[in-house]
Amino acid sequence: MSSQKGQNAAYQKCINPKCGAEFDTADVLFECPRCGDLLDCRYNWDKIAVPKKMSDFAKRWATRDNPLDFSGVWRFRELLNFCEDKFKASIGEGQTILQQNDEVGKYVNKKAGSLYLQYEGLNPSGSFKDNGMTAAFSHAKLVGTKTCACASTGNTSASMALYAHSCGLKAIVFIGSGKIAFGKLSQSMDYGAKTIQILGDFDDCMRQVQDVCRELKLYLLNSLNPFRLEGQKTIIYRVIEQLGWQVPDWIVVPGGNLGNSSAFGKAFLELKELGLIERVPRIAIVNAAGANTLTELVNDRKLFWNDGMVNEEIVDKYYADLTARNFRAHTIATAIEISRPVNLNKCLRTIDVCNGVVLAVTDEEIKDAKAVIGKFGLGCEPASAASVAGLKNLVAKGTIGPDERVVCILTGHLLKDPNLTVDYHTKKEGLFSNPPIEVPNDLDQIIKLLK
Ligand code: F0G
Repeated sequence: MSSQKGQNAAYQKCINPKCGAEFDTADVLFECPRCGDLLDCRYNWDKIAVPKKMSDFAKRWATRDNPLDFSGVWRFRELLNFCEDKFKASIGEGQTILQQNDEVGKYVNKKAGSLYLQYEGLNPSGSFKDNGMTAAFSHAKLVGTKTCACASTGNTSASMALYAHSCGLKAIVFIGSGKIAFGKLSQSMDYGAKTIQILGDFDDCMRQVQDVCRELKLYLLNSLNPFRLEGQKTIIYRVIEQLGWQVPDWIVVPGGNLGNSSAFGKAFLELKELGLIERVPRIAIVNAAGANTLTELVNDRKLFWNDGMVNEEIVDKYYADLTARNFRAHTIATAIEISRPVNLNKCLRTIDVCNGVVLAVTDEEIKDAKAVIGKFGLGCEPASAASVAGLKNLVAKGTIGPDERVVCILTGHLLKDPNLTVDYHTKKEGLFSNPPIEVPNDLDQIIKLLK
């Protein structure tokens, strides 16, 4: 254990200011060995040739035959400068789009031109996770890992399995039994990962995988891995890029294990420190009502970042309550069916940095929002639609103004969870159900129906 800050372009640092221990980037650590809190990847910016302005990154568009310039993650590589190019594990992630969408805007009572959807379903494995995996696998290659592992609600495992295959690593996936949407489960099996199904939920898997990784010296690819979050910062860079290098007023993101929200806050904090943006937007983090730990802790139990002195007693007491009630998270948005989010403290930092708000939405609100996004936008999985459902609530409450420029992050592809979509439409579960119409195998009757 030593102070690394002075020596290299990048180093790891405990986020807890009372501890603040620093470590080399070559150390494989998923928590601070001194105090157990989360670790950040930090930079000595004066040792890195960071562009003077965000728009300088646009010159990479002209050299897209270089795989690192093509990548929507590594195009911004000075802002995640923790390894040499030879380790970078890119498979063309981050070719995502920001869609301005007035129809979805109308649904949430936003004025025309003010709502944007950042569609991360276009990534190679169909979710935002690829942004983080390309970065974490680059670190895994740097440290010479042979086998990696993760617990997952499905997208992390799909993405990890895909990158492991392309990097020549073995992959072990821990999933809760019956807890994963079919699209995602099919991916990790098809990409060749060893899939371990635990009789439990994501929170159980998360606990087990950390112990297994410690015991067997496996490389952990959950968002406890600080390098994964470095990659996920680039979602924000691409939003800014697609807004003509401007910052929106709000980012709205679903909250599960709280990796994305943590990465976004860090991205904004660093861009502000570097003078690359003038202001930091606000953030809204949206839980599902049946998996609302963050909402409960922040809104009801008044848990704050408090300059890094997080009141762990509040968290411990809440988790003890959950255990006493034998509470299990439950939502149709299985991706965010999590009650003990591992990045809680980093997310609290984001809420502080971005003057954030937190709320929970019901499964019905998620399902209807998902159908509206499907009808007028790009289609997404249920957890992604929590962002739009959350925005609708925040506009109704007056927290977000109808004119304010808002970006909702659509985290995963529609085809990740086909069963839920089919049920919603065929069983007429919601306001926007669009079931197939049955008709006899008879031309006249078909024509009559369609006239
Ligand atoms: N949206 C989707 C589609 C997800 O898969 C996840 C998380 C989230 C939102 C929540 O993001 O954890 O950064 O707050 N999925 C993880 C997984 C937990 O295992 O695939 P978060």
